[in-house]
Amino acid sequence: MAAVRIAPSILSADFAKLGEEIRAIDAAGADWIHVDVMDGHFVPNITIGPAVIKALRPCTKKVFDVHLMITPVDPLLAAFADAGADILSVHPESGPHLHRTLQTIKDLGKRAGVVLNPATPISAIDHVFDLVDLVLVMSVNPGFGGQKFIDSQLAKISELRRRIDASGRAIDLEVDGGIDRYTAPRAIAAGADVLVAGTASFAGGSRQYQVNIEALRGG
Ligand code: DX5
Ligand code: ZN
Repeated sequence: MAAVRIAPSILSADFAKLGEEIRAIDAAGADWIHVDVMDGHFVPNITIGPAVIKALRPCTKKVFDVHLMITPVDPLLAAFADAGADILSVHPESGPHLHRTLQTIKDLGKRAGVVLNPATPISAIDHVFDLVDLVLVMSVNPGFGGQKFIDSQLAKISELRRRIDASGRAIDLEVDGGIDRYTAPRAIAAGADVLVAGTASFAGGSRQYQVNIEALRGG
């Protein structure tokens, strides 16, 4: 398997200087930039929308991995695609027709991800697997950074790794929440190939970012 990729979540960056923070985390070796979009309705927190993502787009050439925690999600997909998202990931609970949502994302020319909350079973994606480019396993309940990794999700990651390998398709398996230098190796051992990390990436100021990212890679 290829080396693990690290996707720092800008939720933990300094929101007063997001552009600068993205340039710094890019220079420090981030593989993707994870953007958490929250609406105060699907999750109990509010972050940023398409206008801010569009403004940040010129700050890096790295993949914008956009995690949508909004409902209804369908009416806003085109706006996030236009803003410069490369991957659009949605929760099955964020709209009534997951298949249609994924089809819309593909029609917009973007990579389609499905996010499984800690209590959401893998079976939620059984019948849309052919449309999925990425599966994101939440190892915390969505809404906030800095929460504790939920161990029970490791079994879900392992099972997904088996299913993805059996499918023979290039589906990324990403994990989000409570990833640090201790939980990262466990998520990787279970089969994850992309790790989201907010707190652990942006800790200690920009001079630490490279060290932080190396530590998540196990270095
Ligand atoms: C939580 C978000 C995460 C969050 C992770 O709803 O989806 O991406 O930023 O933060 P840490 O890495 O601090 O758990
Ligand atoms: Zn996220």
